[in-house]
Amino acid sequence: MENILQDVDAVIDQWGAKPESLLQIMLDVNHHFNYLPRESIVRIAERLRMPVSQVYSVATFFKVFSLTPRGRTIVHVCTGTACHVKGAPKLLDRMKQDLGLDPGETTEDLALTLETVNCVGACASAPVVVVNGETYSEVTPNKMAALVKEIKEQSA
Ligand code: FES
Repeated sequence: MENILQDVDAVIDQWGAKPESLLQIMLDVNHHFNYLPRESIVRIAERLRMPVSQVYSVATFFKVFSLTPRGRTIVHVCTGTACHVKGAPKLLDRMKQDLGLDPGETTEDLALTLETVNCVGACASAPVVVVNGETYSEVTPNKMAALVKEIKEQSA
């Protein structure tokens, strides 16, 4: 907790404890921890002299912010129509089977968060998986399992 607050204070000091800096401070804190810890929201509100509810409403309004811990690697399985037809549900089944994850969930070691996305514009390569911005084409359940194994090893 002490460390969290120190890191949050450093970000606030960098941008200045003023309401106009709110978004930038929240983006940096979210980037630093990979999510917005509860105590960071309270600290930001205190230092910027704003109601905690206002900071919370910003945090829940923008999709870029997360209020729960996120993995160091974000795996997006495309579930748009083309990917759905070409087997995206099987990829999600494999993630559930291997890691016990449903979309929106994170492994306990914070190595990986599973998300779905609705078409990334690469339908010809369906089913598509995007890992930290890198697109993988025609992913099979076995390819998915190998990809996840690699992510877990790199993150260990
Ligand atoms: S539906 Fe998956 S890339 Fe378009």
